[in-house]
Amino acid sequence: MSNLEQTLSIIKPDAVERNLEDKIKTMFKNEGFKIVKEKKIKLEKTDAEKFYKVHETKPFYNDLCEYLSSGPIVVMILEKTGAVLDNRRLMGATDPKNAEDGTIRKEFGLSIDKNSVHGSDSIDNAKIEINFFFNN
Ligand code: CDP
Ligand code: MG
Repeated sequence: MSNLEQTLSIIKPDAVERNLEDKIKTMFKNEGFKIVKEKKIKLEKTDAEKFYKVHETKPFYNDLCEYLSSGPIVVMILEKTGAVLDNRRLMGATDPKNAEDGTIRKEFGLSIDKNSVHGSDSIDNAKIEINFFFNN
């Protein structure tokens, strides 16, 4: 038996800027995701640094945090059976060049950094990330 799960999704600044919000939400809905909660916000860089703390030793960390806080983003809780893995599958590979046809990053991603969406990578991280944006 598989379980109903929730995962955190972010439509990143490059996609919001290009007005892709509705198209991306349609892709989620077509794959059976329910958007349980959503909000459009703009992060401070310090918020982005907290959110991406897991990457703090990576060479791209500073640019990543600058970028995520560079413009409005749409943060959503997505729900369906197997949501975490199914969202990762629908997003496609981190680098849009390697993403498969039909994935969000293949359709819309511009580059490895401007890759249009974030999605939690595990059930535990989904809980932490949902809490980060929605439980305060
Ligand atoms: O987002 P995803 O889980 O697929 O990738 P990640 O390895 O957790 O990296 C987080 C984010 O950092 C990516 O989505 C990219 O926006 C960015 N990144 C980057 O700018 N350069 C890299 N070499 C790797 C990741
Ligand atoms: Mg990740």
